[in-house]
Amino acid sequence: MDEKDMKSMLHDVFSEAMKSKIFKDRDKLTPDYVPEYLPFREDQIKRIASALSQALRGSRPNNIFVYGLTGTGKTAAVKLVIRGLTERASELRVPVYTSYVNCRQRDTGYRVIADILESLGGKVPFTGLSIAELQRRLSKRVDSLRGRVIVVLDEIDFLIKKQGDDILYKLIRMNEELSGSSVSVIGITNDLNLVDMLDPRVKSSLGEEEIVFPPYDAVQLRSILEDRSKLAFYENALESDVIPLCAALAAREHGDARKALDLLRMAGEMAERSGKDKVTREDVEAARGELEKDKVYEVVSSLPLHAKLILASILNLTEDRESATTGEIFGEYSRKTASLGLETVTQRRVTDIISELDMMGLISARVVSRGRYGKTKVVKVQASRESIEAALKEDELIEHLLK
Ligand SMILES: Nc1ncnc2c1ncn2[C@@H]1O[C@H](COP(=O)(O)OP(=O)(O)OP(=O)(O)O)[C@@H](O)[C@H]1O
Ligand SMILES: [Mg+2]
Repeated sequence: MDEKDMKSMLHDVFSEAMKSKIFKDRDKLTPDYVPEYLPFREDQIKRIASALSQALRGSRPNNIFVYGLTGTGKTAAVKLVIRGLTERASELRVPVYTSYVNCRQRDTGYRVIADILESLGGKVPFTGLSIAELQRRLSKRVDSLRGRVIVVLDEIDFLIKKQGDDILYKLIRMNEELSGSSVSVIGITNDLNLVDMLDPRVKSSLGEEEIVFPPYDAVQLRSILEDRSKLAFYENALESDVIPLCAALAAREHGDARKALDLLRMAGEMAERSGKDKVTREDVEAARGELEKDKVYEVVSSLPLHAKLILASILNLTEDRESATTGEIFGEYSRKTASLGLETVTQRRVTDIISELDMMGLISARVVSRGRYGKTKVVKVQASRESIEAALKEDELIEHLLK
């Protein structure tokens, strides 16, 4: 390809994009878009709004604990209410301040407090302060605002798992030193076990209001997708079975609206890339394959070393046969750890890790009886071998162990 060819290639790609018959506005399907209307969440939205409405009357709103599985609209609902509240407060000229922090990206107490302080117009110097000093400044800042401060801590499990609930406790307790101002916390999580990890005092303060987001069913997902597709796609760009299929696939995975929207968006992208003017069932199937691959890759990449070694052993053992037994896996895993000069974990732990890999859907493990030899587990690879292998190979230690 010479300079001229390359120019003409770019020209073609760009003009092709302008001719899209599929997407009217693709951004309406991306995760950052917060819709103005969230069907099936009226109750939750109303409850959050009515708790927060205290702020408009100059009282401290209750803390709120929001939980539900992934993709059930928690973030979208809270953002929608916060947006509405801010608008109303400014119309009424009532001092209400809000701060939104996603703890997945900000998973240290220091970063969280710094973000809240900054979003309230406070300054955080580059040179590190102690966390106690930072908290003191936040408290001073809140005090000087003479208003109601609402802090949203989204995906709060990331913060708590890393640093415990101390920060949360301090935030909630800050009110004891404040008179004309207050802080209310909205904690959001999809980790239903999180509650058990909280100190009872934090639990009861945060749970002043508890709001649960149940999963969507296939019918609800269908209707969500239909609404959204009107904003995102040109009329008649979707074949009639596309939305029902996306909804059914996502409903199978615990009713995750994000998954449903991702499938629809990616199916649209697939159709567009191949220059078609309609999205079909095949595009949804292809999109599903792609998303599946991404997910497997992500899950495998984040496994601890010994789980990766066990998975690598399973992959090797099942290269030219269907399954392997736990005994064989332990043997292969021991050889691999020895070659790295590492200690093995106990056989008991290996069995547990195998069950964990099974629960993640990477492998399937089935107990079979071998007569008088007792029972053993037979293990098969369940997810795409290619994706598992690609992710394992990213790990330098493991790379050369895969045959
Ligand atoms: N009722 C709904 N109507 C329209 N879109 C929705 C609805 N519920 C969720 N969505 C959309 O689905 C996607 C996922 O929702 P959201 O991000 O709020 O999930 P979440 O509950 O916060 O999940 P997670 O726990 O993974 O953070 C978003 O794009 C959101 O706009
Ligand atoms: Mg969320």
